[in-house]
Amino acid sequence: MPILQVIEYPDPRLKQVSNPVSFADEANLEAVIQDLFDTMYDAPGCVGLAAPQVGILQRIVVIDSSRNPKFESRHGRVVLINPSVERQEGEVIAREGCLSLPDLTANVKRAQFISVRFQNPEGIEKKIEASDFEARVILHEMDHLDGILFLDRVASLKTDVFRRKRYAQNEGKKEGDGARKPVGEDSLKMQEIESERSSNR
Ligand code: NI
Repeated sequence: MPILQVIEYPDPRLKQVSNPVSFADEANLEAVIQDLFDTMYDAPGCVGLAAPQVGILQRIVVIDSSRNPKFESRHGRVVLINPSVERQEGEVIAREGCLSLPDLTANVKRAQFISVRFQNPEGIEKKIEASDFEARVILHEMDHLDGILFLDRVASLKTDVFRRKRYAQNEGKKEGDGARKPVGEDSLKMQEIESERSSNR
């Protein structure tokens, strides 16, 4: 199965609202899902991918938060089609990254607990309840379906966005435009941080 190219900010497709999947005319849905998983697993540590990130403007998300051993994952590998948040509670601020913003991470506030309705690949209605890291992964990927990136969620672009040090520190590379990552090296890695954070200055 092919590894698809992940499109990066500021590609305008990342800002578009994706279309609902209508199962009647989705002959290639299975293949799209497989390609999304293959592309996600090809990126070390990556725990979620949304179809619009590979230029497919459909409301499909794949996640596998069990790839990050630092956090609890209740559900592992999941496909969410046409997902919608039914209930959310609490607030947690934590660090996020994104394959489509490979040079940046940011502190983003998300719900701590969520209940999400979605359809599985067979078109059957399902519900998933998730918390903490797994909830964050789902909400981050769902945002992509509405053209929202984590940069749109940060409280302050000045104090809540960080350059990925490990890319900038690659030997022989200079920080700035030259510090772009090699394809496939990125990951959706997050760190729990204090809700009442003291900003990095
Ligand atoms: Ni993302």
